Amino acid sequence: MQYSEKVMEHFMHPRNVGKIENPDGVGKITSPVCGDIMELYIKVKNDRIADVKFQTFGCAAAVASSSILTEMIKGKKVGEILKITNKRITEALGGLPKEKLHCSVLAEDAVKSAIEDYLKRNVKVKNKKSK
Ligand code: FES
Repeated sequence: MQYSEKVMEHFMHPRNVGKIENPDGVGKITSPVCGDIMELYIKVKNDRIADVKFQTFGCAAAVASSSILTEMIKGKKVGEILKITNKRITEALGGLPKEKLHCSVLAEDAVKSAIEDYLKRNVKVKNKKSK
């Protein structure tokens, strides 16, 4: 199995690693395939991703997928992010071996779950304000 240069580069030097205190949304996903875990934290300002950090307890492809994902979503509108697929993540990485495609699915699921969490929290805040 061979990784692309891009995968290796992101694995060796992952971007935006860590945790955000008081995030606006959190996505935590465990891969049903291998049990690896990915946590993604987002901060949203004016409907755009102002900050994003991740922690991945998983393989090189999972770390690279999360790292490139954070670059793909920073500054983007919440609605645009919902269109991100694991295929786009894989393409941005210059491809992944077939047996590692589920690692990019983990990144897609984590970001979608973080956005869902953000939207849920927002509805609650709006409901509270309107009471
Ligand atoms: Fe499961 Fe990579 S082997 S996330």
